[in-house]
Amino acid sequence: MYTGLLHLHSALRWVILILLILMIIRSWAGRNGNRSWSEGDRKSALFLMISCHLQLAIGLYQWFTGDWGLALIQANGMADTMKNVVSRFYVIEHTIGMLVAILLSTMAYSLSKKNTEDKVKYGKLFMYYTITFLLIMISIPWPFREVGLNRSWFPGM
Ligand code: HEM
Repeated sequence: MYTGLLHLHSALRWVILILLILMIIRSWAGRNGNRSWSEGDRKSALFLMISCHLQLAIGLYQWFTGDWGLALIQANGMADTMKNVVSRFYVIEHTIGMLVAILLSTMAYSLSKKNTEDKVKYGKLFMYYTITFLLIMISIPWPFREVGLNRSWFPGM
């Protein structure tokens, strides 16, 4: 089951990144044009938030039951865990970075439901989703990074 969830965690990154790019483009277009908040906008923002929350649930499960979270602290102690680049990444950097990103995307969704003028709404959403996107990009263990060594671009590859 753990491997299956790890694959899902890996695949969901692409769903989240694609939805974020879509929302950045939509909010950019809304801020600079005459679009009004649409059902498509609402659905994309909602689906993005659901994907992020699912990712959070899987991530927490991995952190508490897998080899790359709590187990590292229990085996090596906090001080040694922090000294190792890869351990520190999974125990702290990946986790905190993603938690903040998920919080931002949740705040963006609740902001999108507020009854504000569409141009103002799009402007704020553009800012929130851009920061979320950048935060997720730097917190992913990409295969070209030291922390992503032996990890893949796509689940199971
Ligand atoms: C948008 C949010 C997130 C994204 C895009 C993301 C992405 C990823 C990716 C791509 C991997 C590598 C998967 C692989 O090697 O196949 C990974 C691993 C991992 N993630 Fe996340 N993650 C997110 C949130 C979280 C959160 C919030 C936590 C913890 C609470 C977490 C904990 C972990 C752990 C522990 C691993 C290593 C699992 C293992 O190899 O056994 N992730 N994550």
